[in-house]
Amino acid sequence: WILMVTAQTPTNIAVIKYWGKRDENLILAINDSISVTLDPAHLCTTTTVAVSPSFQQDRMWLNKKEISLDGARYQNCLREIRARANDYEDEKKGIKISKNDWQNLHVHIDSYNNFPTAAGLASSAAGFACLVFSLAKLMNVQEDNGRLSAIARQGSGSACRSLFGGFVKWVMGKEEDGSDSIAVPLVDEKHWDELVIIIAVVSSRQKETSSTSGMRETVVTSALIEHRAKEVVPKRIIQMEEAIKNRDFPTFAQLTCSDSNQFHAVCMDTSPPIFYMNDTSHRQVVLTSGWILSCVVAYTFDAGPNAVLIARNRKAATLMLQRLLFHFPPNSDTDLDSYVIGDKSI
Ligand code: DP6
Repeated sequence: WILMVTAQTPTNIAVIKYWGKRDENLILAINDSISVTLDPAHLCTTTTVAVSPSFQQDRMWLNKKEISLDGARYQNCLREIRARANDYEDEKKGIKISKNDWQNLHVHIDSYNNFPTAAGLASSAAGFACLVFSLAKLMNVQEDNGRLSAIARQGSGSACRSLFGGFVKWVMGKEEDGSDSIAVPLVDEKHWDELVIIIAVVSSRQKETSSTSGMRETVVTSALIEHRAKEVVPKRIIQMEEAIKNRDFPTFAQLTCSDSNQFHAVCMDTSPPIFYMNDTSHRQVVLTSGWILSCVVAYTFDAGPNAVLIARNRKAATLMLQRLLFHFPPNSDTDLDSYVIGDKSI
């Protein structure tokens, strides 16, 4: 017999960034963060997990290529889910798995992203969230998404926030074992559904510093990071929660842009400095600055050159996209690959 579960998980974009760990193995952050989860139709991971007594070892395929599950991040997620597995029975199919059997049964995992992994769009967030969620369903784990987020966090920090839709806060927590470092939903996806997200995918593929090593270097070498984590972010989190609750776009946009700017400032304050934004990213900020001043658009950049633009509503998004396509048509001269609508199509 073979038992299978398929799940789909969208990626998320942080508006108050996570950058820096207090524990590398458990993946515990040095500050809280807040993100918006995208619509699954556009940027998501689909994962099928299967179990069968005929499987000889745990195996995984990502975008049709087999990858190793040896890394600590995969092993931690698999171990934590197996530890919470429950009895499963399907009389019709004659399948009976007891709680302890899961330790000896192997899984096959098939995962793919509906967006090009090479586009430099964060895929680990959706990937680990989907892996943990689908394994939990397969093994009949009864814990809620908050508890599951603490497991997904051990795959990739930002993944914990993809277990919920809408706006989500990752509470850094205080406990050494990370038990209180979980994602909490702030408002669901219906609360502020006029927002439209456009991602400008920059085509140059220069080798980037991964988030994992980048934030490690920042924590060790930046003099600004402590000020950011201890003084700036705690205040911003409170203001951002309030802005989201009130659908206050001007405050939301100002906080989002400032936090992106400060995240890139601590990257530049790292030794050697890390440059995630490039000339195209800078030109996009300049082009959108009028809209930013008139509070119809916010921008944010993650650990790469792609601009994530959050428009106040569909009308603003349409106008912005027209202007972007005029000034920055996707081709080699503009260094742009494509525009991905992360929310609804317009
Ligand atoms: C800039 O979650 O990819 O996107 O925990 O080491 O896997 P690891 O890092 P990751 O870092 C994300 C950094 C960010 C900001 C954010 O998503 O909050």
